[in-house]
Amino acid sequence: MSRIPEQILEDIQQRLDIVEIVSSYIPLKRAGRNFKACCPFHHEKTGSFIVSPDKQIFHCFGCGVGGDVFSFLMKYERMEFPEAVKMLADKAGIDFVQEKTKDSSQVDSVSKVLYEVNELAALYFQHILVKDSQAGIARKYLSGRGLTPESIKRFRLGFAGAQWDGLVLFLRKKGISDALLVRSGVALKSSQGKVYDRFRNRVMFPIFNHRGKIIGFGGRILESTDTGGPKYVNSPETEIYKKSKTLYGFNFSKEFVSKQNYCVVVEGYLDFIIPFQAGMKNLVASSGTAFTIDHIRLIKRYTSNLVIVFDADDAGREAALRSLDPLIEEGMNVRIVNLEPGFDPDSWVRAKGAEGFSRSIDAAKNLFDFKLGLLLDRFKRDVPEEKAQIAHEMLSTIKKVSNAVIRASYIKKLSETINVPEEALLAELQKVKVSVAYERKRDDSYNQGVTNVSSAAEKMLLSLMFENEKFISQGKESISCDEFKDPTIKKITKYLYEAKEATAPVTILSKVNDPEVKSFISSLLVADLGINDQQKSFDDCVRKIKKDAVKMQITMIQKDINRAAQDDGDTEKLHGLYKRFHLLKKELKIYEEGN
Ligand code: CTP
Ligand code: MN
Repeated sequence: MSRIPEQILEDIQQRLDIVEIVSSYIPLKRAGRNFKACCPFHHEKTGSFIVSPDKQIFHCFGCGVGGDVFSFLMKYERMEFPEAVKMLADKAGIDFVQEKTKDSSQVDSVSKVLYEVNELAALYFQHILVKDSQAGIARKYLSGRGLTPESIKRFRLGFAGAQWDGLVLFLRKKGISDALLVRSGVALKSSQGKVYDRFRNRVMFPIFNHRGKIIGFGGRILESTDTGGPKYVNSPETEIYKKSKTLYGFNFSKEFVSKQNYCVVVEGYLDFIIPFQAGMKNLVASSGTAFTIDHIRLIKRYTSNLVIVFDADDAGREAALRSLDPLIEEGMNVRIVNLEPGFDPDSWVRAKGAEGFSRSIDAAKNLFDFKLGLLLDRFKRDVPEEKAQIAHEMLSTIKKVSNAVIRASYIKKLSETINVPEEALLAELQKVKVSVAYERKRDDSYNQGVTNVSSAAEKMLLSLMFENEKFISQGKESISCDEFKDPTIKKITKYLYEAKEATAPVTILSKVNDPEVKSFISSLLVADLGINDQQKSFDDCVRKIKKDAVKMQITMIQKDINRAAQDDGDTEKLHGLYKRFHLLKKELKIYEEGN
């Protein structure tokens, strides 16, 4: 959230017209209530970039970017937020100079100190690893995992000893305040107000940003001192460390990625370091988090070709499946490597050498085949409903491919694989397209077993709340935030419910930092609802969402019942579960009768 006074942002927005600002950069054409253009943020031949004068926002249906006039300028001119505000304030004739300098210099100086604290902490951990007698086990551990002394130096590995305040004392001596120690994430504050080291008895991996500055740490437990804590403890997010923007190792590898024109994506720190030291250098590590649009855009400056390596277990495959769609939307060329069960890149390279890893990469399957393979494992292609499920999942991917030739060949292949005429698939593809305006960027629903229809209802409900504030107060009375399944919608609704006064959609946009949430809101805002009876739609949506929430609970309770029945004996628990089950069934009936 920005520290620039909201009043100033509102004043600027009130005095300026987004249409005027955008059209000073790109030519806009009128299209009904809105204006249209070819999107300046991705390559396209037909315009999917919309500017809405009513709502004062822009949105691209092709690449998903969207936001208010500030976000447009930030993206187009590659400016930071305060800079964009300054420029627009000038245009609007609002005096903003004093506010601005105070704000941005404060932010800059905090970041600067946080970089310093992290750098000093890294030096401390490095020193302990090399010099301290208690670090003998850590040195042995690292060499046992095949790390060379050069790698230990290059990646600046370290060790945090057993002492609970070793780093805190060291940094205090360097003049760092306790408040900054905590703010940087290297230390924690107890409920008694004591400040103590976050990392103890762990091998320390500094996390670098893509310019090579240390912004945080991952600390791995030593098996030999394993006291039952989590395998990795990481720095929390701070002003300088954002997980959704950080790719471990990219500062070391980007030149190799660019030279070889592809990038191998692994998960762990050692999955990066071990192949790197073996000579396979065009990689990054995702550190176990899902790939975000920001990650993709960072890599895209160097290459559009990705090879993703995931652990072969189910969790890895799920993660792989989930991360596919945004990659295609961003026009990346994606292939997937499935290593033999039980291996990760680290152990694979140690077993087969860098050449063995290279061979697996050459054999990587393209994303279409990979996803199809997963779906064929999961669904039976000779059962019509399951066949439809496979088709639906594949089509949602195919529709995002912008190259028509590639799309046609995927359709052909899908048609042959599940034995459905191409025409039928094309007809279905049309339908998938219609819902684009209401499609979320990353479709989490696949995992939660939530139907797309229900998230369409959630989106519609949110659109209605944006359209008319009476639906916000009605919403407050009839449906709680927790009943929404979509986490983004949940967040936005919570915000709307808690706002002191009715908020204009555009004001919400300026308060949101996450580009994905921004894009989601702008897509809802530009979509023309095209409904006559808004009240009826509202009521229908509420009922539908509640019905789905109850259905979900019923499914979960059925699972609990099965489990409790297997664990035989706990009749009391079973009894309680049945009671809830029947109550929920009754509730469900009420919603179904309302239809
Ligand atoms: N990770 C994390 N927190 C955890 C578990 C994992 O941050 N509790 C991140 C780390 O970046 C880790 C990566 O996810 O490197 C992959 O996790 P995992 O496969 O469990 O660990 P490895 O990297 O394989 O670690 P090791 O080989 O040392 O067991
Ligand atoms: Mn591993």
